[in-house]
Amino acid sequence: MSRSRRTVIAIAAVCIGLVRLTTGMPAAPADKGKLAFNNLCRTCHSLKEGDNRLGPSLYRIVGAKAARSSDYAYSQGLRQSGVTWDVATLDRWIENPESLVPNNSMKPYNGLTDAAVRKSIVDFLQNSRDGS
Ligand code: HEC
Repeated sequence: MSRSRRTVIAIAAVCIGLVRLTTGMPAAPADKGKLAFNNLCRTCHSLKEGDNRLGPSLYRIVGAKAARSSDYAYSQGLRQSGVTWDVATLDRWIENPESLVPNNSMKPYNGLTDAAVRKSIVDFLQNSRDGS
């Protein structure tokens, strides 16, 4: 192998190492919530107004009444819950939907025991005013 080729390989190896280092670094707090939302919620929920999927749109959900959309077939449990979504109710819902609203239909969803991750998701929901 020529010397310059070896140098190229060495430089490439260093670059790969650097990429690994930067992608392995912990995300900033704002990104943490977004990441957790993407991993745990986005398969069923969009943040765009009126964009109901398997789950209803979560556009500006903080401060909203539960089961607010007339275009989505909520469970009877959620429709009759009388819940308003604030930081506390969202936290309880994400932790264990059934304990806040019996007979809801947010399934299959396993709940989330990690309080810090729950908080990051609720913060993210609160801050994503533009629906993104
Ligand atoms: C498997 C699909 C699924 C996943 C994953 C999921 N949801 Fe849901 N979600 C639903 C469904 C279905 C409903 C409607 C529940 C009902 O009518 O009882 C719902 C309802 C909700 C509501 C009530 C909305 C309203 O208009 O009152 C909130 C808030 C919510 N989900 C937040 C979340 C968050 C945050 C996550 C991630 C931590 C999440 N969901 C994960 C399917 C899902």
